Amino acid sequence: MREPHVVPDRADLPERVTIWEVGPRDGLQNEQGTVATEDKAAFVRRLLAAGLPIVEATSFVHPRWVPQLADAAELMTSLVADLGDAARELPVLVPNERGLDRALELGLRHVAIFGSATETFAQRNLNRSLDEQFAMFEPTVRRAREAGMDVRAYVSMCFGDPWEGAVPVEQVVEVGRRLFDLGASQLSLGDTIGVGTAGHVRSLLRAFTTAGLGVEHLAVHFHDTYGQALANAYAALEEGVTTFDASAGGLGGCPYAESATGNLATEDLVWMLHGLGIGTGVDLAALTEASVWMAGRLGRPSPSRVVQAQSGA
Ligand code: HMG
Ligand code: MG
Repeated sequence: MREPHVVPDRADLPERVTIWEVGPRDGLQNEQGTVATEDKAAFVRRLLAAGLPIVEATSFVHPRWVPQLADAAELMTSLVADLGDAARELPVLVPNERGLDRALELGLRHVAIFGSATETFAQRNLNRSLDEQFAMFEPTVRRAREAGMDVRAYVSMCFGDPWEGAVPVEQVVEVGRRLFDLGASQLSLGDTIGVGTAGHVRSLLRAFTTAGLGVEHLAVHFHDTYGQALANAYAALEEGVTTFDASAGGLGGCPYAESATGNLATEDLVWMLHGLGIGTGVDLAALTEASVWMAGRLGRPSPSRVVQAQSGA
């Protein structure tokens, strides 16, 4: 397999960044068919073995809302049996106290809440109004922190919403601040439907910095619906972001967001970063093999351009 030629660009880019792998969660939550629990576990193990430092494994949401991840407890039990305490460090999504209880029962250490910047998506994704979502998250985060867990907060629809259209930057900053201030260690800014462009990314990141939430607390989470994810990642890199969400093979989407397609493919991100001389710790060949393997289980080729190029597809 090929590796990119390394030609560093700007001197002020970081030497190393963290990739937050979301394929097993954001990717598999959107599949039509159900992937067998043992295949999900094998996928997570392969991604860890490929050097990904953080692999978001699943969601403790209502099984009727996301049947694809209804086996969350079984999956985590199987990973703990294989990997021991290391599996308890893998982040999982929890929307509420019921989800938190399920994660606590298994001794998991790292949860993520997921809020919406818009009213419509809060209703559709969480069955709550924009304001009601905070009442659901507040005790969830408080109890998670009391139990010594680390909490990440996602904010969705940061760059546009399929029902409400453009989302004002100030609205995203206000919701994001409120979610972060509940007690999160990091805020991940989601372009759920992949409509954002590079200038918009810069403007949102700068608005957060102005509001006192600097890039050291921010991650970016791009979907590639309009082919902008990599350009947006580069803009975020130039703004000083060092945590990037991505999904192996470009799997992904959100079952409750019209027109949401695959996430930024981890392989495409790694190719760009390694070409810039920026370390990730990821073995691109092993990662690509994991995605090709999962594409085989799903019965269709990976949408990642790097996976396609590397596998001769
Ligand atoms: P609800 O129907 O309002 O729930 O759903 P409720 O609080 O009224 O409870 C109703 C019943 O559900 C109760 O049972 C609860 O115990 C049970 P009953 O008393 O009737 O027997 N229940 C649960 N069971 C298991 N696990 C739970 C749970 N919670 C309640 N956690 C709820 C509200 C939030 C649960 C629902 O709307 C939900 O599960 N939503 C999840 C949707 C989702 O997972 N979307 C995808 C993830 S977000 C995303 O992909 C975006 C992201 O990638 C970033 C980006 O791209 O922007 C993160
Ligand atoms: Mg997403």
